[in-house]
Amino acid sequence: MDAQAVASDFHINVSHPTLQIALTGPSNADAEASTAGLNHPAVYMNLNGPPYPYSAKDWDAWFWMVSELWKYNLADLQEINNQDQSVVAAQDWSKRKWLGRQMWHSTIRDMGNGGKFIGDITVPRETFMYIRDEEERKRRKEENVKLEPGDPRIVWMIGFWLIPEYHRRGIMPAVLQTVMAEILPKHNAHTVHGSFFDHNTSSRKVFEKCGFSFQEVVPDAVIINPAKTNGIEKKVGTGRTKWERHSSS
Ligand SMILES: CC(C)(COP(=O)(O)OP(=O)(O)OC[C@H]1O[C@@H](n2cnc3c(N)ncnc32)[C@H](O)[C@@H]1OP(=O)(O)O)[C@@H](O)C(=O)NCCC(=O)NCCS
Repeated sequence: MDAQAVASDFHINVSHPTLQIALTGPSNADAEASTAGLNHPAVYMNLNGPPYPYSAKDWDAWFWMVSELWKYNLADLQEINNQDQSVVAAQDWSKRKWLGRQMWHSTIRDMGNGGKFIGDITVPRETFMYIRDEEERKRRKEENVKLEPGDPRIVWMIGFWLIPEYHRRGIMPAVLQTVMAEILPKHNAHTVHGSFFDHNTSSRKVFEKCGFSFQEVVPDAVIINPAKTNGIEKKVGTGRTKWERHSSS
């Protein structure tokens, strides 16, 4: 199954008042738009993960990874959708099939503009970057990774970004709400964290609009890649929000 075929097999509409937004699989045709976005300061100054400067090689490595993830996620999704209803009704989560063997990733597209790439949203397991004690962080991460898909004790996190032309148009709250309605229940997610650099008011607001509650700011938690700050070492605090599914919901 190639990535193009995989991408065309999945499409979730995102409800937005003026734009036709959708979540799909990855496509190698997104290389240019994604690379330009990740090399823009309105994006890279708010992200810790992607390399900077972001090169064609970085895209190739990312694309290869998300295409692989996508094959597994799509296969799991099909199995979940085809589950026997008696299995679906089972109270015991371990009897059912769930997403979450690996990170969920979706590409965000403007369908009214030829399916233009406008960003990404991911749902990995929490890496606990906000825990400053290295041993404790490692322990929590290992514990979280070992849990079986569907285990309600798994702590998930959300990562997202949009290309600058699409900022401040209410897209990400709509995208996150869609992921919370369509994708998180298929993980049996009970606890989800949303983290952001403490200057990133927009990101915090996206989480809060979607029902996440503010938890804390950890000062100086992350060293910004010095390539982003003219070689000067700068630290930034990280804020964290949390969403919890209550057993009745
Ligand atoms: C953060 C991001 C995902 C927000 O998505 P979005 O679709 O632009 O979100 P919105 O359009 O709802 O804007 C977010 C809110 O922040 C507000 N906002 C935007 N910039 C702001 C600023 N500099 N100061 C204060 N508020 C700001 C918006 O007005 C909106 O609030 P409102 O609902 O009260 O009007 C997007 O800007 C982005 O991709 N940024 C770069 C990458 C990034 O930060 N990723 C998240 C890492 S945690």
